[in-house]
Amino acid sequence: MKYAIRYYSKFGHSKQMADALGNVIGTSAAPVTEPVTEPVDVLFLGAGVFLGSVNKSVFRFIDSLTPEKVRCVVLFGSCAIIDSPVPQMRKALEERGIKVADRSFTCKGSMGPIHSGHPDKEDIDALCRFAKTFVTEQETANV
Ligand SMILES: Cc1cc2nc3c(=O)[nH]c(=O)nc-3n(C[C@H](O)[C@H](O)[C@H](O)COP(=O)(O)O)c2cc1C
Repeated sequence: MKYAIRYYSKFGHSKQMADALGNVIGTSAAPVTEPVTEPVDVLFLGAGVFLGSVNKSVFRFIDSLTPEKVRCVVLFGSCAIIDSPVPQMRKALEERGIKVADRSFTCKGSMGPIHSGHPDKEDIDALCRFAKTFVTEQETANV
């Protein structure tokens, strides 16, 4: 199985999450400004929220993807007020006909004193467990 990890991170939270994912999966994480050039089985894509929205560069990146290039996307992210950045990214991907895994990962991300310190170690550990489970299931299904 071939994996890729991309993120947009204004305050460093999604980068922290993506780097932890990279350690679990054995693939280095890169910002969304770095295109996916070779086909991958699973793309992990993550972002936070600023003034209610995921950053435009994430949608530009999604516009560069095709179902041939990416077999499945797993979404992750963090935010302080809304429930999750995941639905915004899911909608854009599905509009391009790209398969998005039902499961995703969201945790709190600080906004000043609100949810201060998040994502914290527990959040990152939970993300790593989520990714390990997902990857193990994929590898098992493809044996
Ligand atoms: C100035 C500022 C504005 C923010 N706006 C929102 C927002 O509108 N809605 C929300 O749910 N979270 C908001 N957040 C929380 C961020 O989404 C959270 O910190 C997230 O973890 C950032 O991820 P990133 O560093 O990867 O971009 C805001 C945080 C800051 C500092």
